[in-house]
Amino acid sequence: MRPWIPETDLPDHERTARAAAFCERMASRHSCRSFSSKPVPRAVIEASIAAAGNAPSGANRQPWHFAALSSAGAKTALRVAVEEEERHFYGGIGGSEWQGVLRDLGAKADKPYLEIAPWVLVAFGQTRASETDLFPNPQVTESVGIACGLLISALHLAGLATLVHTATPARFLNRLCRRPEHERPILLIVVGHPAADAAVPAAALERKPLDQIASWL
Ligand SMILES: Cc1cc2nc3c(=O)[nH]c(=O)nc-3n(C[C@H](O)[C@H](O)[C@H](O)COP(=O)(O)O)c2cc1C
Repeated sequence: MRPWIPETDLPDHERTARAAAFCERMASRHSCRSFSSKPVPRAVIEASIAAAGNAPSGANRQPWHFAALSSAGAKTALRVAVEEEERHFYGGIGGSEWQGVLRDLGAKADKPYLEIAPWVLVAFGQTRASETDLFPNPQVTESVGIACGLLISALHLAGLATLVHTATPARFLNRLCRRPEHERPILLIVVGHPAADAAVPAAALERKPLDQIASWL
């Protein structure tokens, strides 16, 4: 056991002000789907992934691994595979049910940003600690989701734009990122600077107010 290291003792109004200031900074976060090719130093990505590594996790298994892609070859291969997968989705069942909603939110089958943005991070969830471990890690999706929340927040506070994206096709991502079978890709996070024409779709500006997302008992 290590004694708890207390945070600086603050008056309550200062605590509230800090939480409100964080809320205000995060309110400007939006998904970006038009990136510039302006480079982002690896050190920023490293610090942000390190921040994600402080997330709580089921049984402290820390069941995450982040593959950071920046090479043109890897990003092009990723774009080709993701676009092929998405064309199935947009042309198939997903097309009929979700096409309108997703279009309004700016999502489409063409994904040039996967090649243009300087970084694409693939968040993997480790279903077991190692390939030979018999026991499954608990709450993998929840733990990786929380870590990705910290990652996105760190990147946003570093002044970068991000897009959280569905991680398919799964097997392809394992091969591309050279990750073992007991890991499964959970999210792609595209990272970079916004292009001059980047915009936030009107539908994405609607955020539920506090009284709809919280109740007090
Ligand atoms: C798990 C998850 C998967 C997502 N997948 C995609 C995706 O495949 N393509 C896309 O354009 N946006 C994707 N998004 C982004 C959402 O469309 C976006 O967060 C939502 O419309 C709200 O907009 P905002 O991020 O600007 O607040 C995804 C978001 C999450 C959390």
